[in-house]
Amino acid sequence: MGIGWNYAGFVLLVVFLLDAGDFCDGGVTSSFVRTKNISADMPLDSDVFQVPPGYNAPQQVHITQGDYEGNAVLVSWTTPDEPGSSTVLYWAENSKTKSHAKGIVLTYKYFNYTSGYIHHCTIKNLTFDTKYYYEVGIGNSTRQFWFVTPPRAGPDVPYTFGLIGDLGQTYHSNRTLTHYELSPIKGQTVLYVGDLSYADDYPFHDNVRWDTWGRFTERSAAYQPWIWTAGNHEIDFAPDLGESKPFKPYTNRYHVPFLASASTSPLWYSIKRASAYIIVMSSYSAYDKYTPQYKWLANELLKVNRTETPWLIVLIHCPIYNSYIHHYMEGETMRVMYEAWFVEYKIDVVFAGHVHAYERSERISNIAYDIVNGNCTPIPNESAPVYITIGDGGNQEGLATGMTEPQPSYSAYREASFGHGILDIKNRTHAYFGWNRNQDAYAVEADSVWLQNRYWTSSEKSSIASS
Ligand SMILES: *[C@@H]1O[C@H](CO)[C@@H](O)[C@H](O)[C@H]1NC(C)=O
Ligand SMILES: *[C@@H]1O[C@H](CO)[C@@H](O)[C@H](O)[C@H]1NC(C)=O
Ligand SMILES: *[C@@H]1O[C@H](CO)[C@@H](O)[C@H](O)[C@H]1NC(C)=O
Ligand SMILES: *[C@@H]1O[C@H](CO)[C@@H](O)[C@H](O)[C@H]1NC(C)=O
Ligand SMILES: *[C@@H]1O[C@H](CO)[C@@H](O)[C@H](O)[C@H]1NC(C)=O
Ligand SMILES: *[C@@H]1O[C@H](CO)[C@@H](O)[C@H](O)[C@H]1NC(C)=O
Ligand SMILES: *[C@@H]1O[C@H](CO)[C@@H](O)[C@H](O)[C@H]1NC(C)=O
Ligand SMILES: *[C@@H]1O[C@H](CO)[C@@H](O)[C@H](O)[C@H]1NC(C)=O
Repeated sequence: MGIGWNYAGFVLLVVFLLDAGDFCDGGVTSSFVRTKNISADMPLDSDVFQVPPGYNAPQQVHITQGDYEGNAVLVSWTTPDEPGSSTVLYWAENSKTKSHAKGIVLTYKYFNYTSGYIHHCTIKNLTFDTKYYYEVGIGNSTRQFWFVTPPRAGPDVPYTFGLIGDLGQTYHSNRTLTHYELSPIKGQTVLYVGDLSYADDYPFHDNVRWDTWGRFTERSAAYQPWIWTAGNHEIDFAPDLGESKPFKPYTNRYHVPFLASASTSPLWYSIKRASAYIIVMSSYSAYDKYTPQYKWLANELLKVNRTETPWLIVLIHCPIYNSYIHHYMEGETMRVMYEAWFVEYKIDVVFAGHVHAYERSERISNIAYDIVNGNCTPIPNESAPVYITIGDGGNQEGLATGMTEPQPSYSAYREASFGHGILDIKNRTHAYFGWNRNQDAYAVEADSVWLQNRYWTSSEKSSIASS
Protein backbone atom coordinates (compact mmCIF):
# COMPACT_ATOMS: atom_id res chain seq x y z
CA MET A 1 0.00 0.00 0.00
CA GLY A 2 2.73 2.29 1.12
CA ILE A 3 4.63 1.64 -2.07
CA GLY A 4 1.51 2.27 -4.21
CA TRP A 5 0.86 5.55 -2.47
CA ASN A 6 4.47 6.57 -2.81
CA TYR A 7 4.41 5.73 -6.50
CA ALA A 8 1.28 7.80 -7.04
CA GLY A 9 2.84 10.57 -5.01
CA PHE A 10 6.02 10.34 -7.07
CA VAL A 11 4.04 10.55 -10.33
CA LEU A 12 2.12 13.55 -9.02
CA LEU A 13 5.36 15.16 -7.93
CA VAL A 14 6.95 14.58 -11.35
CA VAL A 15 3.88 15.96 -13.10
CA PHE A 16 3.92 18.96 -10.79
CA LEU A 17 7.63 19.56 -11.39
CA LEU A 18 7.26 19.28 -15.15
CA ASP A 19 4.37 21.66 -15.01
CA ALA A 20 6.24 24.12 -12.83
CA GLY A 21 9.18 23.65 -15.18
CA ASP A 22 7.11 24.90 -18.09
CA PHE A 23 6.36 28.05 -16.17
CA CYS A 24 9.93 28.48 -14.95
CA ASP A 25 11.20 28.14 -18.50
CA GLY A 26 9.21 31.16 -19.45
CA GLY A 27 9.97 34.36 -17.59
CA VAL A 28 7.64 36.40 -15.46
CA THR A 29 4.03 37.05 -16.30
CA SER A 30 3.22 39.95 -14.05
CA SER A 31 0.24 39.58 -11.75
CA PHE A 32 -0.34 43.33 -11.63
CA VAL A 33 -3.95 44.29 -12.38
CA ARG A 34 -4.65 47.84 -13.41
CA THR A 35 -7.37 49.88 -11.82
CA LYS A 36 -9.61 52.29 -13.72
CA ASN A 37 -9.29 50.44 -16.98
CA ILE A 38 -11.11 52.98 -19.13
CA SER A 39 -9.47 54.09 -22.33
CA ALA A 40 -11.50 57.15 -23.31
CA ASP A 41 -9.99 59.88 -25.41
CA MET A 42 -9.59 63.24 -23.70
CA PRO A 43 -12.43 65.54 -24.89
CA LEU A 44 -11.70 68.20 -27.49
CA ASP A 45 -11.89 71.00 -24.92
CA SER A 46 -9.20 69.43 -22.69
CA ASP A 47 -6.33 71.57 -21.45
CA VAL A 48 -3.81 69.49 -23.42
CA PHE A 49 -5.49 70.42 -26.71
CA GLN A 50 -5.63 74.18 -26.14
CA VAL A 51 -4.87 76.34 -29.15
CA PRO A 52 -2.08 78.83 -28.38
CA PRO A 53 -3.31 82.44 -28.17
CA GLY A 54 -2.74 84.99 -30.93
CA TYR A 55 -3.76 85.32 -34.54
CA ASN A 56 -2.36 82.46 -36.68
CA ALA A 57 -0.11 81.36 -33.80
CA PRO A 58 2.09 78.34 -34.60
CA GLN A 59 0.81 75.14 -33.02
CA GLN A 60 1.69 71.43 -33.04
CA VAL A 61 5.37 72.31 -32.91
CA HIS A 62 7.60 69.25 -33.05
CA ILE A 63 11.22 68.50 -33.86
CA THR A 64 13.12 65.49 -35.11
CA GLN A 65 16.71 64.85 -36.14
CA GLY A 66 17.32 66.70 -39.41
CA ASP A 67 20.21 64.75 -40.90
CA TYR A 68 22.20 61.54 -40.59
CA GLU A 69 24.99 62.76 -38.30
CA GLY A 70 22.93 64.55 -35.64
CA ASN A 71 23.84 68.20 -36.10
CA ALA A 72 20.69 69.27 -37.90
CA VAL A 73 17.17 69.64 -36.54
CA LEU A 74 13.96 69.46 -38.53
CA VAL A 75 11.34 71.79 -37.06
CA SER A 76 7.65 71.34 -38.01
CA TRP A 77 4.59 73.35 -37.02
CA THR A 78 1.15 74.36 -38.25
CA THR A 79 -0.40 77.79 -38.70
CA PRO A 80 -4.18 77.59 -38.79
CA ASP A 81 -5.35 80.72 -40.62
CA GLU A 82 -2.82 81.61 -43.30
CA PRO A 83 0.63 80.42 -44.41
CA GLY A 84 2.48 83.11 -42.45
CA SER A 85 6.20 82.40 -42.50
CA SER A 86 8.18 79.16 -42.87
CA THR A 87 11.31 80.72 -41.41
CA VAL A 88 12.87 79.57 -38.14
CA LEU A 89 14.92 82.06 -36.14
CA TYR A 90 17.51 80.30 -33.96
CA TRP A 91 20.54 81.00 -31.82
CA ALA A 92 22.91 79.11 -29.54
CA GLU A 93 22.38 79.77 -25.84
CA ASN A 94 25.42 82.01 -25.44
CA SER A 95 25.43 83.52 -28.89
CA LYS A 96 24.81 87.19 -29.63
CA THR A 97 23.83 86.58 -33.23
CA LYS A 98 20.66 84.95 -34.48
CA SER A 99 20.36 82.93 -37.69
CA HIS A 100 17.49 82.19 -40.03
CA ALA A 101 16.59 79.04 -41.89
CA LYS A 102 13.90 78.98 -44.54
CA GLY A 103 11.54 76.02 -44.78
CA ILE A 104 8.55 74.96 -46.83
CA VAL A 105 4.80 75.09 -46.29
CA LEU A 106 2.21 72.59 -47.49
CA THR A 107 -1.42 71.67 -47.03
CA TYR A 108 -3.29 68.46 -47.73
CA LYS A 109 -6.91 67.39 -47.96
CA TYR A 110 -8.34 64.17 -46.57
CA PHE A 111 -11.97 63.40 -47.49
CA ASN A 112 -13.72 66.63 -46.40
CA TYR A 113 -10.90 67.81 -44.09
CA THR A 114 -8.42 70.47 -45.13
CA SER A 115 -5.26 70.79 -43.08
CA GLY A 116 -3.79 74.00 -41.72
CA TYR A 117 -0.53 75.32 -43.19
CA ILE A 118 2.08 72.74 -42.26
CA HIS A 119 5.65 74.05 -42.14
CA HIS A 120 8.86 72.04 -42.24
CA CYS A 121 12.25 73.68 -41.84
CA THR A 122 15.64 72.01 -41.36
CA ILE A 123 18.25 73.90 -39.37
CA LYS A 124 21.66 72.64 -40.44
CA ASN A 125 25.27 72.83 -39.37
CA LEU A 126 24.54 73.13 -35.66
CA THR A 127 27.24 72.66 -33.06
CA PHE A 128 27.10 69.33 -31.24
CA ASP A 129 26.17 69.23 -27.56
CA THR A 130 24.80 72.78 -27.48
CA LYS A 131 21.57 74.35 -26.31
CA TYR A 132 19.73 76.36 -28.95
CA TYR A 133 16.66 78.52 -28.75
CA TYR A 134 14.34 78.80 -31.72
CA GLU A 135 11.36 80.90 -32.66
CA VAL A 136 8.54 80.29 -35.15
CA GLY A 137 5.66 82.49 -36.27
CA ILE A 138 5.49 86.17 -37.15
CA GLY A 139 3.89 89.39 -35.96
CA ASN A 140 2.30 89.23 -32.54
CA SER A 141 2.13 85.47 -32.47
CA THR A 142 5.70 84.23 -32.32
CA ARG A 143 6.54 81.32 -30.05
CA GLN A 144 9.91 80.33 -28.59
CA PHE A 145 11.23 76.88 -27.74
CA TRP A 146 14.64 75.25 -27.22
CA PHE A 147 16.50 72.00 -27.80
CA VAL A 148 19.92 70.53 -27.06
CA THR A 149 21.92 68.96 -29.88
CA PRO A 150 23.43 65.54 -29.13
CA PRO A 151 27.15 65.05 -28.58
CA ARG A 152 29.10 64.03 -31.68
CA ALA A 153 28.80 60.27 -32.32
CA GLY A 154 31.39 58.30 -30.41
CA PRO A 155 31.87 54.97 -28.66
CA ASP A 156 31.54 55.98 -25.02
CA VAL A 157 29.13 58.89 -25.27
CA PRO A 158 26.37 58.43 -22.68
CA TYR A 159 22.90 59.22 -23.97
CA THR A 160 19.35 58.53 -22.81
CA PHE A 161 16.41 57.62 -25.01
CA GLY A 162 12.75 57.44 -24.06
CA LEU A 163 10.63 54.70 -25.60
CA ILE A 164 6.98 55.39 -26.34
CA GLY A 165 4.55 53.63 -28.66
CA ASP A 166 0.88 53.54 -29.62
CA LEU A 167 0.27 56.65 -27.54
CA GLY A 168 -3.07 57.98 -28.80
CA GLN A 169 -4.77 60.74 -26.82
CA THR A 170 -6.56 59.25 -23.83
CA TYR A 171 -6.16 60.08 -20.15
CA HIS A 172 -3.73 57.13 -20.04
CA SER A 173 -1.72 58.69 -22.88
CA ASN A 174 -1.42 61.89 -20.89
CA ARG A 175 -0.28 59.92 -17.88
CA THR A 176 2.33 58.04 -19.89
CA LEU A 177 3.72 61.27 -21.31
CA THR A 178 3.73 62.92 -17.87
CA HIS A 179 5.61 59.95 -16.40
CA TYR A 180 8.15 60.17 -19.18
CA GLU A 181 8.63 63.89 -18.52
CA LEU A 182 8.97 63.41 -14.76
CA SER A 183 11.18 60.32 -14.89
CA PRO A 184 14.22 60.71 -12.62
CA ILE A 185 16.33 59.37 -15.52
CA LYS A 186 15.84 62.17 -18.05
CA GLY A 187 15.22 61.10 -21.63
CA GLN A 188 16.97 63.28 -24.23
CA THR A 189 15.23 61.93 -27.34
CA VAL A 190 12.11 59.83 -27.83
CA LEU A 191 12.24 56.72 -29.98
CA TYR A 192 8.63 56.43 -31.08
CA VAL A 193 7.58 52.99 -32.33
CA GLY A 194 4.51 53.95 -34.36
CA ASP A 195 0.74 54.56 -34.10
CA LEU A 196 0.49 58.23 -33.25
CA SER A 197 -2.91 59.88 -33.09
CA TYR A 198 -5.44 57.09 -33.77
CA ALA A 199 -7.44 59.64 -35.80
CA ASP A 200 -8.36 56.78 -38.13
CA ASP A 201 -10.50 55.25 -35.38
CA TYR A 202 -12.89 58.19 -35.78
CA PRO A 203 -15.63 58.42 -38.43
CA PHE A 204 -14.12 59.53 -41.75
CA HIS A 205 -10.66 59.31 -40.11
CA ASP A 206 -11.41 62.71 -38.60
CA ASN A 207 -8.08 64.46 -39.13
CA VAL A 208 -8.97 67.03 -36.47
CA ARG A 209 -7.64 64.34 -34.12
CA TRP A 210 -4.27 64.59 -35.85
CA ASP A 211 -4.27 68.29 -34.91
CA THR A 212 -5.22 67.62 -31.30
CA TRP A 213 -2.48 64.98 -31.05
CA GLY A 214 0.05 67.46 -32.38
CA ARG A 215 -0.97 69.99 -29.73
CA PHE A 216 -0.97 67.35 -26.97
CA THR A 217 2.55 66.10 -27.70
CA GLU A 218 4.05 69.55 -28.35
CA ARG A 219 5.01 69.96 -24.70
CA SER A 220 7.67 67.27 -25.22
CA ALA A 221 8.20 67.07 -28.99
CA ALA A 222 8.96 70.80 -29.37
CA TYR A 223 11.91 70.47 -26.96
CA GLN A 224 13.46 67.14 -27.83
CA PRO A 225 13.44 65.13 -31.05
CA TRP A 226 10.95 62.35 -31.45
CA ILE A 227 12.24 59.76 -33.90
CA TRP A 228 9.24 58.56 -35.89
CA THR A 229 8.26 55.07 -36.99
CA ALA A 230 5.08 54.47 -39.01
CA GLY A 231 2.45 52.08 -37.64
CA ASN A 232 -0.75 50.67 -39.07
CA HIS A 233 -2.71 53.68 -37.77
CA GLU A 234 -0.63 55.86 -40.08
CA ILE A 235 -1.76 54.01 -43.22
CA ASP A 236 -5.12 55.87 -43.53
CA PHE A 237 -5.97 53.86 -46.64
CA ALA A 238 -9.70 54.47 -47.21
CA PRO A 239 -10.77 54.06 -50.84
CA ASP A 240 -14.40 54.29 -49.68
CA LEU A 241 -13.61 57.91 -48.75
CA GLY A 242 -11.69 58.46 -51.97
CA GLU A 243 -8.42 58.20 -50.03
CA SER A 244 -6.27 55.57 -51.66
CA LYS A 245 -2.80 57.03 -51.14
CA PRO A 246 -1.43 55.30 -48.01
CA PHE A 247 0.25 57.32 -45.23
CA LYS A 248 -1.09 60.66 -46.48
CA PRO A 249 -1.68 62.54 -43.19
CA TYR A 250 1.43 61.03 -41.56
CA THR A 251 3.86 61.84 -44.36
CA ASN A 252 2.53 65.37 -44.71
CA ARG A 253 2.74 66.10 -41.01
CA TYR A 254 5.83 64.17 -39.87
CA HIS A 255 8.86 64.72 -42.05
CA VAL A 256 12.00 62.67 -41.40
CA PRO A 257 15.58 62.89 -42.78
CA PHE A 258 15.31 59.78 -44.96
CA LEU A 259 17.31 61.18 -47.89
CA ALA A 260 20.32 61.60 -45.61
CA SER A 261 20.58 57.81 -45.18
CA ALA A 262 20.04 57.19 -48.91
CA SER A 263 16.55 55.86 -48.34
CA THR A 264 13.94 56.29 -51.07
CA SER A 265 11.02 56.52 -48.62
CA PRO A 266 10.25 58.39 -45.40
CA LEU A 267 8.93 55.10 -44.01
CA TRP A 268 12.42 53.63 -43.50
CA TYR A 269 15.63 55.48 -42.71
CA SER A 270 18.47 55.63 -40.22
CA ILE A 271 20.27 58.14 -38.04
CA LYS A 272 23.37 58.28 -35.87
CA ARG A 273 22.81 59.87 -32.49
CA ALA A 274 25.52 59.96 -29.80
CA SER A 275 26.62 56.33 -29.35
CA ALA A 276 23.57 54.85 -31.09
CA TYR A 277 22.82 53.89 -34.65
CA ILE A 278 19.07 53.81 -35.11
CA ILE A 279 17.42 51.97 -37.99
CA VAL A 280 13.73 52.68 -38.55
CA MET A 281 11.86 50.06 -40.54
CA SER A 282 8.36 49.89 -41.97
CA SER A 283 6.14 46.90 -41.20
CA TYR A 284 3.62 48.21 -43.73
CA SER A 285 5.79 48.64 -46.81
CA ALA A 286 7.11 45.89 -49.03
CA TYR A 287 10.13 44.23 -47.40
CA ASP A 288 10.55 41.00 -49.29
CA LYS A 289 13.72 40.24 -51.23
CA TYR A 290 14.50 42.74 -54.02
CA THR A 291 12.17 45.44 -52.62
CA PRO A 292 13.53 48.96 -52.00
CA GLN A 293 13.39 48.49 -48.23
CA TYR A 294 15.27 45.19 -48.42
CA LYS A 295 18.01 46.58 -50.64
CA TRP A 296 18.36 49.65 -48.48
CA LEU A 297 18.65 47.62 -45.26
CA ALA A 298 21.20 45.23 -46.77
CA ASN A 299 23.43 48.19 -47.55
CA GLU A 300 22.63 50.01 -44.31
CA LEU A 301 23.83 47.21 -42.04
CA LEU A 302 27.18 47.22 -43.81
CA LYS A 303 27.58 50.95 -43.14
CA VAL A 304 27.42 50.73 -39.35
CA ASN A 305 30.73 51.35 -37.60
CA ARG A 306 30.40 49.87 -34.10
CA THR A 307 33.40 51.82 -32.87
CA GLU A 308 31.71 55.09 -33.71
CA THR A 309 28.18 53.97 -32.75
CA PRO A 310 28.38 50.79 -30.65
CA TRP A 311 24.65 50.55 -30.00
CA LEU A 312 22.67 49.24 -32.96
CA ILE A 313 18.94 49.66 -32.46
CA VAL A 314 16.00 48.80 -34.71
CA LEU A 315 12.59 50.46 -34.43
CA ILE A 316 9.66 48.75 -36.05
CA HIS A 317 5.93 48.82 -35.41
CA CYS A 318 4.89 45.15 -35.51
CA PRO A 319 6.86 42.96 -33.07
CA ILE A 320 8.80 39.98 -34.34
CA TYR A 321 8.46 38.13 -31.03
CA ASN A 322 5.11 38.51 -29.28
CA SER A 323 3.47 36.06 -26.86
CA TYR A 324 0.21 37.98 -26.54
CA ILE A 325 -2.85 36.63 -28.35
CA HIS A 326 -3.39 40.03 -29.90
CA HIS A 327 -1.38 40.34 -33.14
CA TYR A 328 0.09 36.89 -32.48
CA MET A 329 2.36 35.84 -35.40
CA GLU A 330 1.74 39.08 -37.33
CA GLY A 331 5.49 39.76 -37.31
CA GLU A 332 6.39 36.27 -38.53
CA THR A 333 7.03 37.13 -42.17
CA MET A 334 9.33 39.97 -41.10
CA ARG A 335 11.12 37.56 -38.75
CA VAL A 336 11.64 35.07 -41.56
CA MET A 337 13.08 37.83 -43.74
CA TYR A 338 15.34 39.65 -41.30
CA GLU A 339 16.07 37.71 -38.12
CA ALA A 340 19.22 36.16 -39.60
CA TRP A 341 20.59 39.64 -40.27
CA PHE A 342 19.62 40.85 -36.81
CA VAL A 343 21.70 38.02 -35.30
CA GLU A 344 24.56 38.24 -37.79
CA TYR A 345 24.97 41.98 -37.31
CA LYS A 346 24.51 41.72 -33.56
CA ILE A 347 21.71 44.20 -33.24
CA ASP A 348 21.39 45.13 -29.58
CA VAL A 349 17.69 45.79 -29.23
CA VAL A 350 14.64 45.68 -31.48
CA PHE A 351 11.88 47.92 -30.14
CA ALA A 352 8.34 47.45 -31.43
CA GLY A 353 4.83 48.66 -30.63
CA HIS A 354 1.49 47.43 -31.98
CA VAL A 355 0.57 45.19 -29.02
CA HIS A 356 -0.97 47.37 -26.31
CA ALA A 357 1.08 45.90 -23.50
CA TYR A 358 4.71 45.39 -22.48
CA GLU A 359 7.00 42.44 -23.15
CA ARG A 360 10.75 41.81 -23.05
CA SER A 361 12.43 38.76 -24.58
CA GLU A 362 15.55 36.81 -23.77
CA ARG A 363 18.34 36.86 -26.35
CA ILE A 364 17.04 34.13 -28.61
CA SER A 365 17.04 33.19 -32.25
CA ASN A 366 14.87 31.03 -34.42
CA ILE A 367 16.99 31.20 -37.53
CA ALA A 368 17.75 27.50 -37.55
CA TYR A 369 14.10 26.88 -38.41
CA ASP A 370 12.97 26.11 -41.88
CA ILE A 371 9.86 24.42 -43.15
CA VAL A 372 11.66 21.10 -43.71
CA ASN A 373 13.64 20.65 -40.47
CA GLY A 374 10.77 21.74 -38.23
CA ASN A 375 13.14 23.13 -35.53
CA CYS A 376 10.67 25.77 -34.56
CA THR A 377 11.66 26.49 -30.97
CA PRO A 378 13.65 29.69 -30.46
CA ILE A 379 16.98 28.93 -28.81
CA PRO A 380 19.29 31.11 -26.72
CA ASN A 381 21.89 32.93 -28.80
CA GLU A 382 24.04 35.63 -27.29
CA SER A 383 24.45 37.35 -30.66
CA ALA A 384 20.70 37.87 -30.88
CA PRO A 385 18.92 41.10 -29.99
CA VAL A 386 16.60 41.61 -27.06
CA TYR A 387 13.08 42.21 -28.42
CA ILE A 388 11.04 44.73 -26.48
CA THR A 389 7.37 45.41 -27.18
CA ILE A 390 6.35 48.80 -25.87
CA GLY A 391 3.03 49.51 -27.61
CA ASP A 392 1.65 50.51 -24.23
CA GLY A 393 1.32 54.30 -24.52
CA GLY A 394 -2.38 54.04 -23.65
CA ASN A 395 -4.60 54.69 -26.67
CA GLN A 396 -8.39 54.43 -26.85
CA GLU A 397 -8.38 50.83 -28.10
CA GLY A 398 -7.42 49.65 -24.60
CA LEU A 399 -5.08 46.98 -23.29
CA ALA A 400 -4.10 43.70 -24.88
CA THR A 401 -4.70 41.33 -21.98
CA GLY A 402 -4.89 37.87 -23.56
CA MET A 403 -1.62 35.94 -23.44
CA THR A 404 -0.55 32.63 -24.91
CA GLU A 405 -0.06 30.05 -22.16
CA PRO A 406 2.25 28.84 -20.88
CA GLN A 407 4.58 31.80 -21.25
CA PRO A 408 7.09 30.74 -23.91
CA SER A 409 10.68 30.28 -22.78
CA TYR A 410 11.86 33.18 -24.91
CA SER A 411 9.63 35.66 -23.07
CA ALA A 412 11.45 37.16 -20.09
CA TYR A 413 8.75 39.50 -18.75
CA ARG A 414 5.27 40.47 -19.88
CA GLU A 415 2.54 42.64 -18.43
CA ALA A 416 -0.68 44.13 -19.76
CA SER A 417 -0.23 47.70 -18.54
CA PHE A 418 0.39 51.12 -19.97
CA GLY A 419 3.76 52.84 -19.58
CA HIS A 420 6.99 53.92 -21.23
CA GLY A 421 10.63 52.81 -21.35
CA ILE A 422 14.01 54.45 -20.81
CA LEU A 423 17.19 53.26 -22.52
CA ASP A 424 20.12 54.75 -20.66
CA ILE A 425 23.35 54.16 -22.56
CA LYS A 426 26.36 54.41 -20.23
CA ASN A 427 29.30 53.50 -22.45
CA ARG A 428 30.16 51.12 -25.27
CA THR A 429 29.52 48.01 -23.18
CA HIS A 430 26.64 48.86 -20.86
CA ALA A 431 23.15 50.26 -21.18
CA TYR A 432 20.32 50.16 -18.70
CA PHE A 433 16.71 49.64 -19.75
CA GLY A 434 13.83 50.36 -17.40
CA TRP A 435 10.09 50.16 -17.88
CA ASN A 436 7.73 52.39 -15.90
CA ARG A 437 4.14 51.29 -15.45
CA ASN A 438 2.15 54.52 -15.45
CA GLN A 439 0.13 53.59 -12.36
CA ASP A 440 3.29 53.53 -10.24
CA ALA A 441 5.32 56.47 -8.95
CA TYR A 442 7.61 58.15 -11.48
CA ALA A 443 10.76 56.53 -10.13
CA VAL A 444 9.41 52.98 -9.92
CA GLU A 445 10.50 50.50 -12.55
CA ALA A 446 8.29 47.44 -12.86
CA ASP A 447 10.88 45.79 -15.10
CA SER A 448 14.51 46.58 -15.78
CA VAL A 449 17.58 44.96 -17.27
CA TRP A 450 21.24 45.74 -17.89
CA LEU A 451 22.03 45.29 -21.56
CA GLN A 452 25.54 44.35 -22.59
CA ASN A 453 26.50 45.52 -26.01
CA ARG A 454 26.49 42.62 -28.48
CA TYR A 455 29.39 43.82 -30.59
CA TRP A 456 31.68 44.68 -27.69
CA THR A 457 30.86 41.93 -25.20
CA SER A 458 29.40 38.89 -26.93
CA SER A 459 31.91 36.08 -27.40
CA GLU A 460 30.08 34.73 -30.48
CA LYS A 461 32.13 34.98 -33.63
CA SER A 462 30.80 37.48 -36.04
CA SER A 463 31.01 37.36 -39.79
CA ILE A 464 31.45 41.13 -39.93
CA ALA A 465 34.94 42.50 -39.83
CA SER A 466 35.63 44.71 -36.84
CA SER A 467 36.44 48.29 -37.59
C1 LIG B 1 -17.35 65.66 -43.12
O1 LIG B 1 -18.39 64.78 -43.44
C2 LIG B 1 -19.04 64.18 -42.32
C3 LIG B 1 -20.08 63.22 -42.86
O2 LIG B 1 -20.93 63.82 -43.77
C4 LIG B 1 -19.64 65.25 -41.45
O3 LIG B 1 -20.22 64.66 -40.30
C5 LIG B 1 -18.58 66.25 -41.03
O4 LIG B 1 -19.14 67.31 -40.30
C6 LIG B 1 -17.86 66.78 -42.26
N1 LIG B 1 -16.74 67.61 -41.83
C7 LIG B 1 -16.44 68.74 -42.43
C8 LIG B 1 -15.23 69.46 -41.92
O5 LIG B 1 -17.09 69.18 -43.36
C1 LIG C 1 29.02 75.76 -40.41
O1 LIG C 1 29.26 76.56 -39.26
C2 LIG C 1 30.61 76.98 -39.11
C3 LIG C 1 30.73 77.75 -37.81
O2 LIG C 1 30.01 77.18 -36.80
C4 LIG C 1 31.02 77.82 -40.30
O3 LIG C 1 32.37 78.14 -40.20
C5 LIG C 1 30.76 77.04 -41.60
O4 LIG C 1 31.01 77.86 -42.71
C6 LIG C 1 29.34 76.54 -41.67
N1 LIG C 1 29.17 75.68 -42.83
C7 LIG C 1 28.10 75.76 -43.62
C8 LIG C 1 28.05 74.79 -44.77
O5 LIG C 1 27.21 76.54 -43.45
C1 LIG D 1 -0.16 93.43 -32.98
O1 LIG D 1 0.55 94.31 -32.15
C2 LIG D 1 0.43 95.66 -32.54
C3 LIG D 1 1.39 96.50 -31.71
O2 LIG D 1 1.49 96.00 -30.39
C4 LIG D 1 -1.04 96.11 -32.40
O3 LIG D 1 -1.17 97.43 -32.81
C5 LIG D 1 -1.90 95.21 -33.26
O4 LIG D 1 -3.26 95.48 -33.06
C6 LIG D 1 -1.66 93.74 -32.94
N1 LIG D 1 -2.35 92.91 -33.92
C7 LIG D 1 -3.10 91.89 -33.58
C8 LIG D 1 -3.73 91.16 -34.72
O5 LIG D 1 -3.28 91.54 -32.43
C1 LIG E 1 -2.55 66.03 -18.61
O1 LIG E 1 -1.40 65.98 -17.80
C2 LIG E 1 -0.92 67.25 -17.43
C3 LIG E 1 0.40 67.06 -16.71
O2 LIG E 1 0.26 66.12 -15.69
C4 LIG E 1 -1.97 67.94 -16.58
O3 LIG E 1 -1.53 69.24 -16.24
C5 LIG E 1 -3.26 68.04 -17.38
O4 LIG E 1 -4.27 68.62 -16.58
C6 LIG E 1 -3.71 66.68 -17.85
N1 LIG E 1 -4.88 66.81 -18.70
C7 LIG E 1 -5.84 65.90 -18.76
C8 LIG E 1 -6.99 66.21 -19.65
O5 LIG E 1 -5.82 64.86 -18.15
C1 LIG F 1 35.07 53.70 -37.31
O1 LIG F 1 34.98 54.75 -36.38
C2 LIG F 1 36.18 55.01 -35.68
C3 LIG F 1 35.88 56.03 -34.60
O2 LIG F 1 35.22 57.13 -35.13
C4 LIG F 1 37.24 55.46 -36.67
O3 LIG F 1 38.46 55.67 -36.00
C5 LIG F 1 37.43 54.37 -37.73
O4 LIG F 1 38.31 54.83 -38.72
C6 LIG F 1 36.10 54.02 -38.37
N1 LIG F 1 36.26 52.87 -39.21
C7 LIG F 1 35.95 52.89 -40.50
C8 LIG F 1 36.13 51.61 -41.23
O5 LIG F 1 35.49 53.88 -41.05
C1 LIG G 1 24.05 32.25 -32.90
O1 LIG G 1 23.86 32.71 -34.21
C2 LIG G 1 25.04 32.80 -34.96
C3 LIG G 1 24.72 33.46 -36.27
O2 LIG G 1 23.82 32.69 -36.99
C4 LIG G 1 25.65 31.42 -35.12
O3 LIG G 1 26.86 31.53 -35.83
C5 LIG G 1 25.89 30.84 -33.75
O4 LIG G 1 26.34 29.53 -33.86
C6 LIG G 1 24.62 30.86 -32.93
N1 LIG G 1 24.92 30.44 -31.58
C7 LIG G 1 24.24 29.47 -30.98
C8 LIG G 1 24.63 29.21 -29.55
O5 LIG G 1 23.36 28.86 -31.55
C1 LIG H 1 -9.53 46.52 -20.05
O1 LIG H 1 -10.57 46.95 -20.92
C2 LIG H 1 -10.60 46.30 -22.16
C3 LIG H 1 -11.67 46.96 -23.00
O2 LIG H 1 -11.50 48.34 -23.00
C4 LIG H 1 -10.87 44.82 -21.93
O3 LIG H 1 -10.84 44.16 -23.19
C5 LIG H 1 -9.78 44.24 -21.04
O4 LIG H 1 -10.06 42.91 -20.74
C6 LIG H 1 -9.69 45.03 -19.74
N1 LIG H 1 -8.52 44.57 -19.00
C7 LIG H 1 -8.51 44.40 -17.68
C8 LIG H 1 -7.21 43.94 -17.08
O5 LIG H 1 -9.47 44.61 -16.99
C1 LIG I 1 30.53 50.99 -18.44
O1 LIG I 1 29.40 51.24 -17.63
C2 LIG I 1 29.17 50.25 -16.65
C3 LIG I 1 27.86 50.58 -15.97
O2 LIG I 1 27.85 51.90 -15.48
C4 LIG I 1 30.34 50.19 -15.69
O3 LIG I 1 30.13 49.17 -14.74
C5 LIG I 1 31.60 49.90 -16.48
O4 LIG I 1 32.72 49.94 -15.61
C6 LIG I 1 31.77 50.93 -17.59
N1 LIG I 1 32.90 50.55 -18.43
C7 LIG I 1 33.90 51.38 -18.63
C8 LIG I 1 35.00 50.86 -19.50
O5 LIG I 1 33.93 52.50 -18.15
